[in-house]
Amino acid sequence: MEKLFESIEEHPEPQEAEITGSIPDWVEGYLFRAGPAKWDFEDGFTLNHYGDGTSLMNKFTIEKGKVTVMTKFLDSEAYQKLLQFNRPIFTEYGTRSYPDLCKNIFQRFIATFLPMSFTDNNFDNFLMLEDEMYLISEKNSYWKINSDDLTAIEKTDISNVVSVNAATSHPHIAQDGTIYNIGSSVMTGMKYNIFKTPPKSADGLSALQRTTMLSTISSSYTTCLSYYHSFGLSENYILLVEQPYLINTLKMATSGIVGYCFHDLMDWYPDEKAIFRLIDRETGIEIETKYVTNAFFFFHHINTYEEDGHLVSDLVTYSDPDVVNHLLLEKLRLGTFPMAIVAGLTRFVLPLNTEGKQGSNLVTLKNTKAIAVKQDENSVLLIPETKGKKGFEFPAINYSMFNSKKYRYVYGSSVFNRAELANSVQYCILLNF
Ligand SMILES: [Fe+2]
Repeated sequence: MEKLFESIEEHPEPQEAEITGSIPDWVEGYLFRAGPAKWDFEDGFTLNHYGDGTSLMNKFTIEKGKVTVMTKFLDSEAYQKLLQFNRPIFTEYGTRSYPDLCKNIFQRFIATFLPMSFTDNNFDNFLMLEDEMYLISEKNSYWKINSDDLTAIEKTDISNVVSVNAATSHPHIAQDGTIYNIGSSVMTGMKYNIFKTPPKSADGLSALQRTTMLSTISSSYTTCLSYYHSFGLSENYILLVEQPYLINTLKMATSGIVGYCFHDLMDWYPDEKAIFRLIDRETGIEIETKYVTNAFFFFHHINTYEEDGHLVSDLVTYSDPDVVNHLLLEKLRLGTFPMAIVAGLTRFVLPLNTEGKQGSNLVTLKNTKAIAVKQDENSVLLIPETKGKKGFEFPAINYSMFNSKKYRYVYGSSVFNRAELANSVQYCILLNF
């Protein structure tokens, strides 16, 4: 596994890939992927965390049983500064920023007393906005990419589009083509903001120009925001799960002086509940019921759908956020990823009708072991059901057909699993429908 974490260089000229087995002729098209790929620099400096590595884009062209591959580093401002100074000038996830030697002493003084500026080293996800391709992260920049040669065209700061300081890297595309995303803002209190981009219209506006705010809801915590990497979208609701892995914004405010990186701002509260919050997709109004469950950590929603008056939420969950600590590069390079850190498919079922006796199970679906216990008028305790074998991440479904719908298969990777499923691509069959 440790081979995965060696620094590599880009190959912008297409190269024919070596193929084991055969690819059917009917498989044709392009596959774009990005990820961190370079952590080590000429003077011996190494970035701390897997997520700090410079973004390398990969384009796979599949045609007539052959595959060509080209790779290119994202020419971001963060990358340019890294090449210039061999040090990050923007704060990365696990590596603090260094002073920009291009700035004069006064500018550096000002930069020290400002809260951290987000890196534009995006590698989380490619997003298509009409015929334009963007490489995005869970920060505040969208990089427009030329899909022919992977050159970076321009960067949009989304805080200039809608009032968010950062947004998830997993927007949802609804069946009608509307794109939804959630971002956080801190300037007027701790807020989560849902914004949406309607399908192309006759007004000639670009997708980003059509993007507007749907709803703003307050964090359940006065000085903290929950960390969320993704969210759920059902036919009628947006689901935001506030896990008790909190971003401490007081620490963020002093980050320039103290030298915090993002990892230093996160605190885990195992005795707090995770809170499931439902927002009406049409009106933007949050429903009053709070669904709570025992603390867990997660990155990815798999799918969210409604069935017979329930909302079914499938997540890839961990018992705690220790996985984040084990993505430090020096640990990954030892090749000893702990077997105890395994994620699994967890199903929560949220009854939309909460009438019933206190203490009763409100779930009436026949095909699930998940239960939801009514606590008081507006509070329901969720007890989830686990499905499939553990050791499963990076979930994928047949998104265009089954997003927000009842579905049967989810595919995932077991790259970090050291046990039975090590290094496999596996699928989990959701039975008992
Ligand atoms: Fe992700």
